[in-house]
Amino acid sequence: MSNLSLDCENLKPFVSDEEVNKLQSEVSLCHDSLEQGSGKGADYLGWLRLPSNFSDSAEIDSAADSIRNICEAFIVVGIGGSYLGARAGVSYLNSSFPNQVGRQGGPEIYFAGQNISSDYHADLFDLIGGRDVCLNVISKSGTTTEPAVAFRLLKQMMEKKYGSAGARDRIVVTTDSSRGALKSLADELGYKTFVIPDDVGGRYSVLTPVGLFPMAVAGINIQELMEGARQGEKLYSNPSLEQNDAYRYAAQRHLLYQKGKTTEILATFQPAFHYLADWWKQLAGESEGKNLQGIFPASVELTSDLHSMGQWIQEGQRNIFETFLILESSRRQLKIPAFKNDADGLNYLAGETLDTVNEKAWLGTASAHKEGGVPNMTLKIKDRSPTSLGQIFYFFERAVAMTGYLNGVNPFDQPGVEFYKKNMFKLLGKPGF
Ligand code: PA5
Repeated sequence: MSNLSLDCENLKPFVSDEEVNKLQSEVSLCHDSLEQGSGKGADYLGWLRLPSNFSDSAEIDSAADSIRNICEAFIVVGIGGSYLGARAGVSYLNSSFPNQVGRQGGPEIYFAGQNISSDYHADLFDLIGGRDVCLNVISKSGTTTEPAVAFRLLKQMMEKKYGSAGARDRIVVTTDSSRGALKSLADELGYKTFVIPDDVGGRYSVLTPVGLFPMAVAGINIQELMEGARQGEKLYSNPSLEQNDAYRYAAQRHLLYQKGKTTEILATFQPAFHYLADWWKQLAGESEGKNLQGIFPASVELTSDLHSMGQWIQEGQRNIFETFLILESSRRQLKIPAFKNDADGLNYLAGETLDTVNEKAWLGTASAHKEGGVPNMTLKIKDRSPTSLGQIFYFFERAVAMTGYLNGVNPFDQPGVEFYKKNMFKLLGKPGF
């Protein structure tokens, strides 16, 4: 059963059905390369079958329960693909104010090591100083500077507070099965460890313990999330453009890019989707932006950004297209009240739900942008459930892999990321640089 549906009606003046259908043979070839492991980056296709290979969440749930029992604040230490999926999941599924509403039987969740800001980390340490803390450090390579620096600081703080043995029970490591400094440290100090499979790259790892363990600590039902991903695997492993929305989305993106639409804006109307958009930007940007090509992935949060970026989107340079991410039904409905004197002139909306107003804002925006020369499509999402989120993760992974193959690039490497590191290491005087 699909919790997602793609509506391409507003692309009609820009991309014809015929153009999409013509891509079928190319899509089929790319699909075969993915399925048979005969294309670029074939060593990193483990993500394709993560949902169907997932047996149960017992180990993750039990480790998460132990952590939930002993901590008030849980720190996820990681960067890029090693933290964005978990952050997307927590904000998609939990309260809009997760750390303010009380712990609902679980800890507050914080993120560290996704930057090297002294003030950010000092403020975080102030905040968690008086709380019982546990942490999950996540790094596939085990050598990434940002999380390694944050982990040093947090480990030192925790060992001071709990002693080495006490800290050991509060630290969980997620890393490669055999390589890397983090793996050696985990073995030496006896930390509980989760393994990131060799054949799954960082940005495709949300459905491994990288994303699943922090989400379980945040109280998210992992079994349901993986059931949704399994449904996604079934739905989006179909080579047919007509039947597979993920491939149709990829085909549209490919055609729009060929027509000079070099920036895609993912537009949401839900703050809960904020980090999902960040996860998507990393997935698409790092996978597709290479060999001097690739769609630039951007995002806006509406209606807020209609009052900032809306002008640009409506009348700026016409090199953009938009993908709306629309939630079909909120968990709770709020109705607009009637006011006696109608001073603000809003009584015509009295009794209407906020969902109705938000929907009309989306429809109005989509047609205004289409009129303004911005091709747009909409991915409708049934609800904010773990099942839907599992499908969304798999949908975008399939779509981005397909777009990468259609563009002739390897969607599973990121050689460009090394350039800043080399310069930074040289400037820092790292031996060997
Ligand atoms: O997608 C990727 O591979 C990257 O974004 C990595 O996730 C990111 O650089 C973090 O790497 P690591 O998990 O090795 O610390």
